[in-house]
Amino acid sequence: MPGVRFEQVDLRYERRTVLESIDLDLVEHRVGIVGANGSGKSSLVRMINGLVRPTSGRVLVGGLDVARETRRVRQRVGFLFPDADHQIVMPTVREDLAFSLRGSGLPAAQVHERVEGALTAYGLAEHADHPCYLLSGGQKQLLALAAVLLTEPTLIVADEPTTLLDLRNVRAISARLAALEQQLILVTHHLELLDGFDRVVVIDEGRVVADDAPGPALERYVELLG
Ligand SMILES: Nc1ncnc2c1ncn2[C@@H]1O[C@H](COP(=O)(O)OP(=O)(O)O)[C@@H](O)[C@H]1O
Ligand SMILES: [Mg+2]
Repeated sequence: MPGVRFEQVDLRYERRTVLESIDLDLVEHRVGIVGANGSGKSSLVRMINGLVRPTSGRVLVGGLDVARETRRVRQRVGFLFPDADHQIVMPTVREDLAFSLRGSGLPAAQVHERVEGALTAYGLAEHADHPCYLLSGGQKQLLALAAVLLTEPTLIVADEPTTLLDLRNVRAISARLAALEQQLILVTHHLELLDGFDRVVVIDEGRVVADDAPGPALERYVELLG
């Protein structure tokens, strides 16, 4: 596992403190992050690929300092957002998948082969030439995941990837996430997705308030909500 390390990370906007004294060394296969809305979860995980920069402290991915080696880090990190519409950029499903391999240096025949493989693996083959906007929310999130995986990241960061989905699609996405061989850092309010995770970090008002196995961590989280 490449591992993500937060060293004494603070994040402030003007005088508002969003994250404070974050020290985490995330090396487990599957790590969950939970916390109330506004607690700082998205800010925290967006630091992993440099979308958000710490005000002080540093973030390392596989030993690389995200601030100094943003490009190399981004080649290793695949990121999923709550709303797949934000990451679908091309008109059709097939084109969108191919787009994620732009600049990969792969010959066209190999790009084609990988794209066709992903279409089949993600149940999107019959929609290959459909406009992406015709896909259901669940299919869009599958497309986003398939596109991210085509780039062969070593780490997947998923920020509430199931929040906008109905229950059937929550299950479809969570099964895909559970099957990943890569390290996974998952922010979610769907606590059942964290069954079998190695570690769960609870964030409250910008601080780590619990960091444990899912059982005790989620117990603490539910107490906090109470
Ligand atoms: N660019 C920004 N400027 C000012 N405040 C921000 C910015 N981004 C996030 N925040 C604030 O930081 C806090 C944490 O936000 P966020 O990381 O999105 O939390 P979560 O994902 O847990 O809901 C919120 O109060 C939010 O309003
Ligand atoms: Mg968020």
